Amino acid sequence: MIKKVSVIGAGTMGNGIAHVFAQNNFEVNLIDVNEAQLRKALQNIAKNFDRQVSKGTITEAVKKEALAHISTFTSLKEGVQDADIVIEAATENTDLKLKIFKEIDEAAPASAILVSNTSSISITKIASVTKRAEKVIGMHFMNPVPVMKLVEVINGFLTDASVTQTIIALSKQLGKVPCVVNDYPGFIANKILMPMINEAIYSLYEGIAGVEEIDTIMKLGMAHPMGPFQLADFIGLDVCLSILHVLQAGFGNPKYAPCPLLVNMVTAGKLGVKTSEGFYTYTPGSKDLVVSRQFIK
Ligand SMILES: NC(=O)c1ccc[n+]([C@@H]2O[C@H](COP(=O)([O-])OP(=O)(O)OC[C@H]3O[C@@H](n4cnc5c(N)ncnc54)[C@H](O)[C@@H]3O)[C@@H](O)[C@H]2O)c1
Repeated sequence: MIKKVSVIGAGTMGNGIAHVFAQNNFEVNLIDVNEAQLRKALQNIAKNFDRQVSKGTITEAVKKEALAHISTFTSLKEGVQDADIVIEAATENTDLKLKIFKEIDEAAPASAILVSNTSSISITKIASVTKRAEKVIGMHFMNPVPVMKLVEVINGFLTDASVTQTIIALSKQLGKVPCVVNDYPGFIANKILMPMINEAIYSLYEGIAGVEEIDTIMKLGMAHPMGPFQLADFIGLDVCLSILHVLQAGFGNPKYAPCPLLVNMVTAGKLGVKTSEGFYTYTPGSKDLVVSRQFIK
């Protein structure tokens, strides 16, 4: 029975994961190397709960109880020592994740399931640095976690079927919809999404159509809630580029080669929403989509 959850990394995803577990009455230890980040995380989680209260989806009492379920730690060892499950949502960097999983494997109870929320790093590789590869699995939550229903569950090469069943049940307990996939580059979500985004960027680069036209075609024609450029800006163009590199290296297939325009934008520091400019420009307080000056014909 899973009751105690340790979440490693108190950034965008760690906040959201801690939020949904706390709201569903789990005890949550939120761990980050950066103390200021932990303070910021608690403020953000409280703000997101306030939004749910003002929308009437939860009561003030539920919010208070949920917040009381979250404790923060800067020491990984202390934060995972009595965990039933550890969910890693630290920065997307292979060496960092391997180091973190070695530490978790030593500090967490032998019975604990170890999970990564990685978008692209091999679960089998992460599992290989632990002494419990059969208990290592991927739970790819989507951003924003409290809103998005999907959990892409990734079976590592050695993940035990009973562990997969536990994670399916746990995802449902959180009100999410789990979908199980096998561990190959990009899993399924990014293996399909990133080539679509790359193809949109190629179409712009080749002058076939503009940013607004391509996004409108995909929104109105395919019923996508966001066009590929808006979504790429939201995800971060650096993140898109690095996932394309993972697909290209992992499958050895040139069809995943990133468009030179994407490479240039990342090199120039135009990373999307987080730098206020990507394919669109973003002004704080405004929800208007304004195409970046360089893409206006
Ligand atoms: N942002 C997304 O849309 C999204 C979606 C799905 C999955 N992911 C995956 O989730 C993970 C986290 O992404 P994010 O966007 O939340 O990143 P982020 O940069 O917002 O947060 C990462 C956090 O990890 C912390 N950290 C770094 N090293 C650490 C360590 N050794 N111990 C503890 N904490 C450490 C950092 O201080 C930071 O607070 C990545 O693997 C990413 O690929 C992200």
